[in-house]
Amino acid sequence: MTTEQQPRAQWLGRWGFVLAATGSAVGLGNIWKFPYMTGEHGGGAFVLVYLVCILAVGVPVMMTEIAFGRRGRGSPIDAVRRVVTESGRSSAWSLLGWMAMLCGFMILSFYVVVAGWSFSYLWKMLSGGLNGSGVDDMAAIFVANNENPFNLGFWSTLVTLVTMLIVGKGVQAGIEKSVSWMMPGMVIMLLILIGYGAFSGGFGEAWSFLFSFNTGSLSSEGMLAALGHAFFTLSLASGAILTYGSYLPEGASIGRTTFSVAIADTLVALMAGLAIFPIIFANGMSPEGGPGLLFMSLPLAFQAMPLGTLFGVLFFVMLSMAALTSSISMVEATVSWLVDNKGITRRTAAWGTGIVLWLVSTLAMLSFNLGADWTLGGRHFFDWLDYLTSRWMMPLGGLGMVLLAGFVLKSETFREELGLAPHWHVLWLFMVRYVSPLGIMVIFVDALGIARLQFGLHWPWLLAVLALITLIGELLSPRLRRTLAG
Ligand code: TRP
Repeated sequence: MTTEQQPRAQWLGRWGFVLAATGSAVGLGNIWKFPYMTGEHGGGAFVLVYLVCILAVGVPVMMTEIAFGRRGRGSPIDAVRRVVTESGRSSAWSLLGWMAMLCGFMILSFYVVVAGWSFSYLWKMLSGGLNGSGVDDMAAIFVANNENPFNLGFWSTLVTLVTMLIVGKGVQAGIEKSVSWMMPGMVIMLLILIGYGAFSGGFGEAWSFLFSFNTGSLSSEGMLAALGHAFFTLSLASGAILTYGSYLPEGASIGRTTFSVAIADTLVALMAGLAIFPIIFANGMSPEGGPGLLFMSLPLAFQAMPLGTLFGVLFFVMLSMAALTSSISMVEATVSWLVDNKGITRRTAAWGTGIVLWLVSTLAMLSFNLGADWTLGGRHFFDWLDYLTSRWMMPLGGLGMVLLAGFVLKSETFREELGLAPHWHVLWLFMVRYVSPLGIMVIFVDALGIARLQFGLHWPWLLAVLALITLIGELLSPRLRRTLAG
């Protein structure tokens, strides 16, 4: 192993970690999925539930992940192994690290295809390839874009190349340098687009679509969606945050940085809604979900507006940057593992990973054309990658992390690493022991299709179950009492 001798890279600037982690968190999920979900599930009421999920599940899991990374100073596999052996526990727990790393890689394999859509639409905007007069024309353009494997493959290959180019340059010269201009640039572009939307005449409608407090349309489905999205949008349990945390300097406060990332991520998601929907509503369109929103309705709306092409270009530049700052974080776990364990340079590691990624993502890309008939259990390869990662691997990985931190490892580890005031530490411990695991298990129950938990209607039951689990957990584990006493 080479890292044992070399000092591990660290973020250079005070904001290095926050910018990079926010870059990871802010992605297609924020700009595309969140605004639409909000409108669909009851506006302000959904936003409120989502915030609760971020606080109750997202923040504690993220803090735990960063603590693992900084304590173990390595890729997910090495960091988890070091932290568990420090507590005298079995190194078999490092399987969690393997799963996280694999999960990040699998997400990236389909993410580059979607990011490729964004790049190709940017090109279409610039080159005037989006001239059509109706939604049907736009749908046809979208289909044609996917139908040709060489076209679609070109764009996902480009995303892969740019990602590897940045990651290959290193933590400071590659990742930190690129996020330090891309993230502020993205926010400025979003603000400009909000301003543009504000003059379009659809702003009021967009505002009420997003924020009117409509509890009637908030179903248990919506709550489940909020929970799953809280996980996805913070890039949890896929190696990214843990690896970025392994470059965090000793003195930085994990609690404070986590809150900064969670708040920034949520703000960008809300801002994206305020940028997109005014333009959609001003043109009398409906806020549909799926690829249609960004790749059919929006281009059409831009076309109908003054200076639409200019702002359309701006929009797709912004979207492409959001995707890139996420994709670089997804391979960092794998690249850092290769560098630490295989004695190869970062550049070699990046290009090696890039080749494998290219092969897997090409298979995912083919789901849209040549491989349209290649399905298993009704899912294309692309859909399998999405399903396995978001429904199983991310929740399972998150669950493993919090249970490890809450029940298995020595409490000093996290007390030292998080450095929280005693009352905050107890709150964190309560969250990782009971609240986050319960929240995560709800995702499994749903994925298994065992039961639709009607917790929207019976939240007193949820509290009762939580209290019961807490009681049992505390009876079985005397450690919290010792923690409180010590
Ligand atoms: N958070 C990203 C988004 O909202 C998506 C994502 C999920 C991700 N898991 C990740 C990004 C892991 C980087 C690493 O679009």
